[in-house]
Amino acid sequence: MTIEIKSSDDIDNMRLVGRLAAEQLEMVEEFVKPGVSTEKLNQICHDYTIEIQNAIPAPLNYRGFPKSICTSVNHVVCHGIPNEKKILKDGDIINIDITLKKNGFHGDTSKTFLVGNTSKLATRLTEVCQESLYLGIKAVRPGGYVGDIGAVIQKHVERNRFSVVREYCGHGIGRVFHDEPQILHYGKEGTGPELRPGMVFTIEPMVNAGKPNVKLLPDNWTVVTKDHKLTAQWEHTILVTENGYEILTWRKDDTIERCN
Ligand code: MF3
Ligand code: CO
Ligand code: CO
Repeated sequence: MTIEIKSSDDIDNMRLVGRLAAEQLEMVEEFVKPGVSTEKLNQICHDYTIEIQNAIPAPLNYRGFPKSICTSVNHVVCHGIPNEKKILKDGDIINIDITLKKNGFHGDTSKTFLVGNTSKLATRLTEVCQESLYLGIKAVRPGGYVGDIGAVIQKHVERNRFSVVREYCGHGIGRVFHDEPQILHYGKEGTGPELRPGMVFTIEPMVNAGKPNVKLLPDNWTVVTKDHKLTAQWEHTILVTENGYEILTWRKDDTIERCN
């Protein structure tokens, strides 16, 4: 297994596409409210990508995925397909996952939005998932190991009596959407590949309120919790730097420094 080290030109391109993906999550926020369909959110993002950002929505036709973004509501873990019949209601949580392609490079990021007044459980689950992403990011440093990231995420999630999804993981990213290495969101410190400056990958923990088990629906995309309990996800694209990390998909609402 070889993990690509990005050139400084590659990194410039990754910074650009990462910023565009982040700006898209900022842009869509005002539309995420009760009464909107996930298809409408898809259409808004699709048009913005093509007409405003001059970029490509990478999910569209990726391995047959039919839409431009993923919209995963409540018990949907990931890869939810936007649909005009799925209307957001007060108290829902929805992960919107944006992957853009620009100049041949990918930027991949997602967040879980709270729709109106959410339950204490939904709110806490979403917070713990974001906190676990931030702890994972802070574990990124040259000379560290991929396993350090999963270890710290798993500890934080389980300390809060939630569970980590095992079947899906973060991934190297660049000209290739899903590349080496796999970034597991559980595991042991000091295991796996060593981190080196110039590596770029996503960290994207999926955290369940109940058991970690998931199930794939017959559409072959939508992943749900087996127990139908709530689940949340947050994702950033991260560059390993000489000092530690740089968040290529950093947004203004992030409560972690863009880099260290
Ligand atoms: N953006 C997702 C990820 O974080 C992948 C979506 S693949 C799709 O890796 F085909 F469902 F869009
Ligand atoms: Co990803
Ligand atoms: Co994603």
